[in-house]
Amino acid sequence: MFIVFEGGEGSGKSTQAAQLADAVSALGQVPLVTREPGGSPLAERIRDIILDDASRDIPAEAEALLFAAARADHVAEVIRPALARGDVVICDRYIDSSAAYQGAARGLGVQRIRDLSMWATGGLAPDLTVVLDVDPAVGLARARDANRLERESREFHRAVRAAFLGFAAADPDRYTVVSAGQPAAEVGEQVWRRVAPLMEQR
Ligand SMILES: Nc1ncnc2c1ncn2[C@@H]1O[C@H](COP(=O)(O)OP(=O)(O)O)[C@@H](O)[C@H]1O
Ligand SMILES: [Mg+2]
Repeated sequence: MFIVFEGGEGSGKSTQAAQLADAVSALGQVPLVTREPGGSPLAERIRDIILDDASRDIPAEAEALLFAAARADHVAEVIRPALARGDVVICDRYIDSSAAYQGAARGLGVQRIRDLSMWATGGLAPDLTVVLDVDPAVGLARARDANRLERESREFHRAVRAAFLGFAAADPDRYTVVSAGQPAAEVGEQVWRRVAPLMEQR
């Protein structure tokens, strides 16, 4: 089982990933919480490059390829082995983040970015993607350590939000959208309401 949290900065992805891991553990299943960009030693090094202020002027294409390179390693070294062991993999951001930020908001094209990541990962798609939806102004006010991507314009963050909602609307079987403006415990309850039936099917 491969579950991904997507959403803007400060929408609560890391918080919810940890909360879901606790619920999965309580059922006697083994959760593996991981994140992107990063999640494997090489991918964490690429993450440092991507988020570094010194990378401010890299071409959008180079940035997109760095994300894809990190993802290729993360999937091969961490996610696929965990899935093969039968763990429940919970990932904080995945392909849709690239599709929303680089594909939609930066204008590189959603399909092109998706194709790149599908090639990089051997086509590994999540069983369920939870989109945590919140006004970017609220999310950014919550997020403390502002990095390069978090300092993008308001319009950029609005485009990212619209992209995630569009992906979810196009494939309701594989997505759920949870309003992330409510308290974290309530967000977690709604997430669990969608995940619990999937866990029972296992
Ligand atoms: N539902 C919520 N309501 C209020 N604050 C929240 C909520 N979820 C998370 N937070 C807080 O907002 C900040 C960002 O949350 P985090 O989970 O790191 O978001 P993300 O990983 O999506 O950037 C953290 O300080 C966290 O404790
Ligand atoms: Mg986070």
